[in-house]
Amino acid sequence: MLKGKTIVVGVCGGIAAYKSADIISKLKKLNAELHVIMTRSAREFISPLTFQSLSQNYVIYDMFQEPRSWEIEHISLAQKADLFIVVPATANMIGKIANGIADDMLSTTIMATKSPVIIAPAMNCDMFENIIVQKNIQRLQALGYIFVEPQVGRLACGDIGQGKLADVDDIIEIIKQTVAFDKDLKDLNVLVTAGPTREAIDPVRFITNHSSGKMGYSIAKVAKYRGAKVTLVSGPTNLKPIKGIQMIDVNSALEMYEAVMAHFEEADIIIKAAAVSDYRPLKSEKHKIKKQQNDLEIQLTKNPDILMELGKKVTNQVLIGFSMETQLLKEYAKEKLIKKNLDLIVANNLSEKGAGFAVDTNIATLINKNGDIENMPIMTKDELAYVILDKALAIHKKKH
Ligand code: C5P
Repeated sequence: MLKGKTIVVGVCGGIAAYKSADIISKLKKLNAELHVIMTRSAREFISPLTFQSLSQNYVIYDMFQEPRSWEIEHISLAQKADLFIVVPATANMIGKIANGIADDMLSTTIMATKSPVIIAPAMNCDMFENIIVQKNIQRLQALGYIFVEPQVGRLACGDIGQGKLADVDDIIEIIKQTVAFDKDLKDLNVLVTAGPTREAIDPVRFITNHSSGKMGYSIAKVAKYRGAKVTLVSGPTNLKPIKGIQMIDVNSALEMYEAVMAHFEEADIIIKAAAVSDYRPLKSEKHKIKKQQNDLEIQLTKNPDILMELGKKVTNQVLIGFSMETQLLKEYAKEKLIKKNLDLIVANNLSEKGAGFAVDTNIATLINKNGDIENMPIMTKDELAYVILDKALAIHKKKH
């Protein structure tokens, strides 16, 4: 995923320095080209040899170190970087960057770079709360530096508060969002729906389906990677909320309808991956239904078809729907494409192995307005999200 990307990792002196070894190892597995710069105090916590072994590059820590090539090291690294990440970032380093001080290899190289810079602070909670540190952070954020908030937890010093380095996987996620893809969806608003809906029978029971939300979350995440402004309207799922996007949690189809309609106008691309319940109980009982002697009948009433309503309203927006079937896949999908006035429909057959609910892969057939049919091979939901967004972008360009 990060092949061909050069990431410079700046490590400052804090106990969380050992966690940056894990980050570097994970980035290496994603095929990034890595260079590590350590501050003098970072070397008190962890040996440069650790980072040299993990990054497979010489570690730089001294401004006046014997150069290993004719290049002026801080300038060449600053120019080579697709991304800079300072992890862990100390109050001292944040203060230096915010105030234009360049008195060691790390602060000097950061000053010379034009690449995005991610800063992941880790420090004692009282230091983090200090108004000077907070002002420095605000100043840098206003200048476009990306911060990964430290977590609240038990700190190495024994205090409990905010200052613990953000979760390593969250840091990797932000790195991917920043550098992994071309920002070809920049300036576009993408509205995605995901997951199942829950239709209340009474305060205890509901009608739902097996949707895990994975496909919609993949689309939202990849759209974010590609620079879009993303709104994700999600039914109840077990998935982690996606950072850096607008998440709107809903339960029922009616709630999803309201949320989608409230955000539809500003959207350029709308992708409805949610498995919306077609029916809901006509009456949701106020109190728990007690067990009865005989059979129980629950009368259902039809939910609005959100996608069809959108199809009536679209102007020059791109509208994409999903179709999940157990038979006559293409026929049903084509029918829906026309009935709901879609630009593209993503059809998948629930009975095929590797497609459908809860799995990480999908086997899709894409059908567009001209009736072109493309059978996609089995691929991960992230990969399919990428393909769907490629199509969405091409249709958007055609319409504008
Ligand atoms: O007609 P069917 O439910 O199979 O169509 C599936 C597509 O329609 C999906 O994109 C789904 O998100 C959307 N849909 C909807 N509102 C409904 C039912 C389905 O938006 N009530």
